[in-house]
Amino acid sequence: MNSDLQKLQPYPFEKLRQLKQGCEPPAALDHIALSIGEPRHPTPAFITEAVLSHLHGLSAYPLTKGAPELREAICDWLTRRFRLPEGSLDAEHHVLPVNGTREALFAFAQTVVDRNQTNPLVLMPNPFYQIYEGAALLAGARPVFLDCMEETNLMPDFDAVDEQTWKDCQLLYLCSPHNPTGAVIPEKTLARLIELAHKHDFIIAADECYSEIYFDEAHPPTGLLQAAGNTGNDSYSRCVVFHSLSKRSNAPGLRSGFVAGDKEVLEQFLRYRTYHGCAMPPHHQAASILAWQDEKHVEENRRAYQEKFAVVLDILDDKLRVRKPQAGFYLWAQTPVSDTEFARALYDQQNVTVLPGSYLSRSALGRNPGSNHIRMALVAPMDECIDAANRITQLIDSF
Ligand SMILES: Cc1ncc(COP(=O)(O)O)c(C=O)c1O
Repeated sequence: MNSDLQKLQPYPFEKLRQLKQGCEPPAALDHIALSIGEPRHPTPAFITEAVLSHLHGLSAYPLTKGAPELREAICDWLTRRFRLPEGSLDAEHHVLPVNGTREALFAFAQTVVDRNQTNPLVLMPNPFYQIYEGAALLAGARPVFLDCMEETNLMPDFDAVDEQTWKDCQLLYLCSPHNPTGAVIPEKTLARLIELAHKHDFIIAADECYSEIYFDEAHPPTGLLQAAGNTGNDSYSRCVVFHSLSKRSNAPGLRSGFVAGDKEVLEQFLRYRTYHGCAMPPHHQAASILAWQDEKHVEENRRAYQEKFAVVLDILDDKLRVRKPQAGFYLWAQTPVSDTEFARALYDQQNVTVLPGSYLSRSALGRNPGSNHIRMALVAPMDECIDAANRITQLIDSF
C-alpha cells in the first residue's frame, strides 16, 4: 500500500461523529445540522431540466478538456465577473472544466509538485479545507500551515513566512472567501503573493468556490486572476483559480466547476487529467453552460443568504462573539467554553450540530487557531436557522 495514506488525518466529520457518541439529544426537538457546508436552497429548475434534456449524449465519451461551448461560457463569465482584460482568456488554453473543485484541488497538487526536489513544501491557510493537506501529503510534499488569527483579520500573516520557506514552496493554496472564517484576501495582498510566486518560482492555487456568496452587491470579492490582470500579468502566469457551481448555483450534486489561469500549468494539468480519467459527463456540461450564463438565480441565492445572516446575527449578537463574514455562508464564532465541549453540549441539549473549529485546523505553532471557535453553515431554510440560533442562545444561558 502507499505508505503516505497513513499520513492522512480523519476527516472533520468523522471526528464529529465520535464527539457526538453517547449523547442523547431531546427527542422533542428536531435535529438541525449547521455542520455541513452543503447548500440547501433549491437547485434552479433550468439546471435540472438541462441535465434531463441532454441525456441522449450518453452514447459518446466526453472530452477531458470539455466542450468548446462550455469553455467559452466559462471564459465569458470570468471576464465579466472579474473585469479581466477583454480577450485575455482564451477558451482553448486558459480553462478546464472539472468535476467540482474538490477533485481538482486534490489532483492539482499531484500535477505541480515535484517530489524529487529538496524539501517540497505546500503552503495553506490554517484552518483549511482538508483536501489541501491530503493533496500535499499524497504528492510527497510537506504541508505548511499558515495560521489565520483574529490579530491578522483571520487571514494568514504572509509577511511572517521566512525566506527559506518561500524558496522551498512549490504550491500555495489560498482560499478566498475563506472557509471557515469568511475572510476575503485583499487585492493588494494577492498582488504581493503573485510577486512572491515569481520571485520564488511557485504556483498559486486560489480556491474561490465561495466567491459568489457575498453581502454587498457593489463589492464582490476580488479574485486572483483579477489581481494578476490589474498588475499587468494578463497571461496569468503562476496563477490558477478554482470555481464551482456547487455553492453559486446550489448544485453540489452536479459536480461541476472549472480551473482557469496559467496556460502552461493547465496544459500539464490536462495531461494529468487525461490519464486520471475525469471528463465531465456531457449532460452536466450542457447544464453548466446555462448555469454560468445566468446571474439571476445567483442574485436570488445571495439575497436568501443575506436575509438569513441578518436575522441569525441579530439573535446571536449579544450571546456569542461572532461577526458577519465578508463573504461565504459560514459563521465563525468564538465559544465561551472549548469548541468541542460547546459542540457536544449543543448537540446533547439542543439537538443542533455545529463543527468544532479545532477539527478544521492543525496546531503547527503550539496553538490551534480553530480552537474555541465553531463553524456554522447557514444553509438550512430561514425557519431552521432561526430555530438553531435560538437554541444556541438557550445553551449559552444554561452555562
Ligand atoms: C473551501 C472549499 N473548497 C472546495 C470545496 C469543494 O466544493 P465542490 O467540489 O463541490 O466544488 C468546498 C466544499 O465544501 C470547500 O468548502
